[in-house]
Amino acid sequence: MKHSKVTVVGAGFVGATAAQRIVEKDLADVVLVDIVEGLPQGKALDIMESASVEGFSRRILGSNLYEDTAGSDVIVITAGLARKPGMSRDDLLFKNAEIVGGIVTACAKYSPEAVLVMVTNPLDVMTWLAQKKSGFPAERVIGMAGELDSARYAYFTAEKLMCKPADVKAVVLGGHGDQMVPVPELTEVQGKPLPSMMDAVMIGQINQRTRNGGAEIVALLKTGSAYYAPSSSAVKMVRAILQDTGEVIPSCVYLDGQYGLKDVYCGVPAQLGRGGVKKIVEVRLTEEERLELHRSAADVRQNFLKLNIS
Ligand code: APR
Repeated sequence: MKHSKVTVVGAGFVGATAAQRIVEKDLADVVLVDIVEGLPQGKALDIMESASVEGFSRRILGSNLYEDTAGSDVIVITAGLARKPGMSRDDLLFKNAEIVGGIVTACAKYSPEAVLVMVTNPLDVMTWLAQKKSGFPAERVIGMAGELDSARYAYFTAEKLMCKPADVKAVVLGGHGDQMVPVPELTEVQGKPLPSMMDAVMIGQINQRTRNGGAEIVALLKTGSAYYAPSSSAVKMVRAILQDTGEVIPSCVYLDGQYGLKDVYCGVPAQLGRGGVKKIVEVRLTEEERLELHRSAADVRQNFLKLNIS
C-alpha cells in the first residue's frame, strides 16, 4: 500500500514539531524542507533516530529541494519569520508574503493535487495569497488558526473550571488576530453551554486571554513564538484530510457567501476530508458576534489588498 506523503515547509519550531507529530502518529511519510542547508536533514535524522524508541514506522526526509516534495497529498507551510516581542502578526505581512509566494509556486508545480495547509502568519492573508499563487481551487487551500484559538480557549476555560481541557468544546471564529471572535454560547463544557457554568466577567477574561494567546507566549519565550499547540492543531487538520474523517474543525477557509461574507478568507467551522474543505458549517451567531466576524474579515481583506495581488 502506498503511504500518504506530507510535505512540511519550514524546519523551524512549528515545522519540525509538526513533522515529528505526523510520524509519531504514523499518519504519513514526511518531507521536511527548509532554505537553510543541513537544518531539515539534521532534524529529520534526529527524529528518525527516535523511531525505535517511539515505535513509529513512517519516515522523514530532510531536504532543500522541492523536487523531493513531488506527489505530496498535503503540504503544510510554516516557513517564514516568527513574531518577536512587540511585533504584531501584521508586521510580518510583507516579509512573509515574499517567502510564502515563492514556496507555494514551487510546491504547486510538484504536487498539483495537494491540499495546502497554511500556518505562516499573518495567517488569513497568507492563506489567501497561497490560493492565488497556487491557482488551486479554494477548497484545497486552508489555514490553521481556528483550531489553535479554540484549543487555547478550551485550555483557559478548563483551567478556570478545574476540568479536563478535552471536556471543553470551544468555538472561536474570525481571523487569527486581535479581532478573533470567541463564541461562548456555542462553547460547551461536558455538553453544557459555557454561560451556564461561568459568569460574564470570567468569560470576558477568557475571551481576552485567548485573543492575546499568541502574544502571551511570545512575551514569555522572548526569542520566538508558540509551536507545540500550533503544530498539534495543524496535524489534527492533516489527519482529518488524509483519513477523510469529515471532522468539523475551525479553519481559515474561502467564504463565498457563507455568514454573509463573500470573496474573503476567514475562520469558521469547516468539515475537512480528502479534497480539503468538504463543507462550511454555518453556526448561529448573535448580532454582535456576526458584526465582529464581519469586522475581522474586513481587517483580513484590508491587509490582503496591501499586497496588491489581483
Ligand atoms: N524557504 C524555506 N524555508 C524558509 C524560507 C524559505 N524561503 N524562509 C525561511 N524559512 C525557514 C527558516 O529557515 C526557519 O527554519 O522557516 C523556518 C521558520 O522557523 P522558525 O523561525 O522556528 O519559526 P516558527 O516558530 O516555526 O514559526 C513559523 O509559523 O506560527 C507561525 O508566526 C509563525 O509565521 C511563523 C511560522
